[in-house]
Amino acid sequence: MKNLFDLTGKVAIVIGGSRGLGRGMATGLLNAGAKVVIASRSAEAVEQAAKEMTEASGSVCRGIALDVTSLDAIKAFIAKVDAEFGRIDILINSAGINVRKPALEFEEADWDKVTDTQLKYVFFMDQQVGKYMVEHGIRGRIINVGSISSMVGLKNIVAYVTSKGGILQMTKALANEWAQYGITVNAIGPGYCFTEMTRPLLSKPGVKDKYEERIPMGRLGEPEDMATTAVYLASDASCYVTGQMIYVDGGWTIN
Ligand SMILES: NC(=O)c1ccc[n+]([C@@H]2O[C@H](COP(=O)([O-])OP(=O)(O)OC[C@H]3O[C@@H](n4cnc5c(N)ncnc54)[C@H](OP(=O)(O)O)[C@@H]3O)[C@@H](O)[C@H]2O)c1
Repeated sequence: MKNLFDLTGKVAIVIGGSRGLGRGMATGLLNAGAKVVIASRSAEAVEQAAKEMTEASGSVCRGIALDVTSLDAIKAFIAKVDAEFGRIDILINSAGINVRKPALEFEEADWDKVTDTQLKYVFFMDQQVGKYMVEHGIRGRIINVGSISSMVGLKNIVAYVTSKGGILQMTKALANEWAQYGITVNAIGPGYCFTEMTRPLLSKPGVKDKYEERIPMGRLGEPEDMATTAVYLASDASCYVTGQMIYVDGGWTIN
């Protein structure tokens, strides 16, 4: 029987792939046979991560520096990937940034920083890769990263929650428009995982224990938990699934 999860011959882009959940998902795609281009702002970090991931997987991982908050930079990046790899089959948008403070203290710059990275330029990344796929007749896979806060109104991160709520609806709208081209657009909604982003919160005394009590499965998420769902959504196994957000949260959102 054909392995429906096999990604051999596919080329994937993972924005925010230098660390955290993006790196976990990129590793999943590499282990399933894809060639993967990871991108993040720090050239040093992304190149070092790509080197380590190539060595560990035996597949091809390339690191390219990109600040996703510029449409011109996105276009140049896609041209570069096309020149080097000749196709783009899979996109995962995992760049992330957060500002944690009460809504009453939020400043305009805080709002813009978070929503630019996690909403506005997720759209433009999806749009430019979607355009590339349509022009090249590629029945591609686009995977956005939401959060449990796509569903629930977590406190003190209003711009983050707003952007993740927007990701849920953007994913549905793009899925609806692009189904005619055979492109699926889905999202993964991670629960709390220990990464650079959540370190300041989860390192506070008692917070990790409190969250683990709140999670039915009794533990935080790991990058590997996101990787398996990413491979599913990137592969033929999910060919009739589009416009969905799969919450990978140990049950947080059902409790
Ligand atoms: N950790 C969690 O508990 C959790 C839960 C739910 C959802 N999420 C979501 O999962 C995604 C990944 O988060 P994470 O926890 O893995 O965070 P992380 O460890 O801080 O990783 C964030 C990644 O995004 C990159 N990045 C940030 N701004 C960028 C920009 N402007 N252009 C390109 N790359 C950029 C970072 O690299 P540079 O700094 O070098 O640019 C890094 O590779 C985010 O969308 C986040 O909202 C996380």
